[in-house]
Amino acid sequence: MSTPQTKERAKYGAAAFEGMKGTLPQTFPRTIGPNAMKYLKEVVDSGLTLRMSARFEEAFANESGVKHCIATPGCTPALAILAAAFDFDPGDEIIVSPVTDYGTLMGLVKENYIPVFADTAPGTVNISAETIEPCITDRTRAILVVHKTGIICDMDPINDLAAKHDLVVYEDACQAVFGEYKGRFAGTLSRAAGFSFDAEKTMGSDIGGCVITDDDDLAEKLRWIGHSRGGRKEPGFGRMHSAAGYAYRMPDCTAAICLAQLEIICDQVAHRDKMVRLLSRLVNEIPGVTALPIPDSVNVYSPWMFGMSIDPNRFSCSTAEFAQQLVDGGVPGAGMAKYYLMPEACMFLTENARNKVYPYCMPPASREYVYDETTCPTAHAFLETWIRWSTFCEKYTEEHCQLAADIVRKVADANRR
Ligand SMILES: Cc1ncc(COP(=O)(O)O)c(C=O)c1O
Repeated sequence: MSTPQTKERAKYGAAAFEGMKGTLPQTFPRTIGPNAMKYLKEVVDSGLTLRMSARFEEAFANESGVKHCIATPGCTPALAILAAAFDFDPGDEIIVSPVTDYGTLMGLVKENYIPVFADTAPGTVNISAETIEPCITDRTRAILVVHKTGIICDMDPINDLAAKHDLVVYEDACQAVFGEYKGRFAGTLSRAAGFSFDAEKTMGSDIGGCVITDDDDLAEKLRWIGHSRGGRKEPGFGRMHSAAGYAYRMPDCTAAICLAQLEIICDQVAHRDKMVRLLSRLVNEIPGVTALPIPDSVNVYSPWMFGMSIDPNRFSCSTAEFAQQLVDGGVPGAGMAKYYLMPEACMFLTENARNKVYPYCMPPASREYVYDETTCPTAHAFLETWIRWSTFCEKYTEEHCQLAADIVRKVADANRR
């Protein structure tokens, strides 16, 4: 695939937020746990003998109440080592959320599995047992759910459905760190889960991530394939590689920051939960505007972003214009999120499926696939009228929520039909 070099490369972390202005708090500079320097110094003072990543793994597993944490440099690699460890066959299908980040997909695409995008449930950004069921075929091996914005998918019916069809369920919990579904943490609701501690995430470091699981065999396989590059020591020879593994170990300096962030995250999440519920209530008082619904099953909402739908029949402006007026009014980063629709955003999938490039040739594929804006019509339509800002952060106070709602109301009233 050729990409015009005239187009600006995508940016991540603080670079993606550069130049944002507004009267509301911004994600950067991040709030950093008070012990970060102490832990970083320990790493340096030890002459790099201190395994801070192991210390972080133990702490994150304990805080999550699971047996294993395997730390990685991001969630993209976390989900990549999971995809590799599952060891399905090329052409096997993984049912996945369509509204997500490319990082959800990379691992399964590189393993030559085929993503099958279940549509979202009406009025939200997540898939459900009802939208997953019609996607199940004899090639389906797993369901990868994404708790988009931090709203945790309704996991009990999804797990029941998976059990009926003998499918693995795993979670992309990047946007829901320490959120709770019926009193259980996001990421502990299935076989395994990936997290992101990227700079802009709710628990932000420089570029971290991890997998958590209670499965001893899976944990050992993840360490072998993800940390040891698929290598084992062969007596009298040295390292032998029986799989094409990865060097996706979390750097110890990143682990030092992650450990410090872990110490403050649960208080931050509790605060975010309070603020997002308040902002949602205030926004829902504005005719024509609907905050993303928070299901009763989500007893702690750990929101990475704030999202709301606007009713196109009530306003004379487009969704993009509404979002721009929010930015002009002081909401940094407000915008549409059409690029989250993976079947449309991943042009390489569209082209590979159309041109029957491996694994879309038959075999290993057993049917044809189409990836475009028609693949998940409900998700596509939802995103056409959805606005979000991922600068919603732990710095919000009740006054900021009121200010944000006032700005939304002003824009709504100025554009009312
Ligand atoms: C839902 C989701 N999955 C995966 C990723 C990728 O995470 P990372 O940047 O840590 O690789 C992100 C990051 O934005 C995400 O939001």
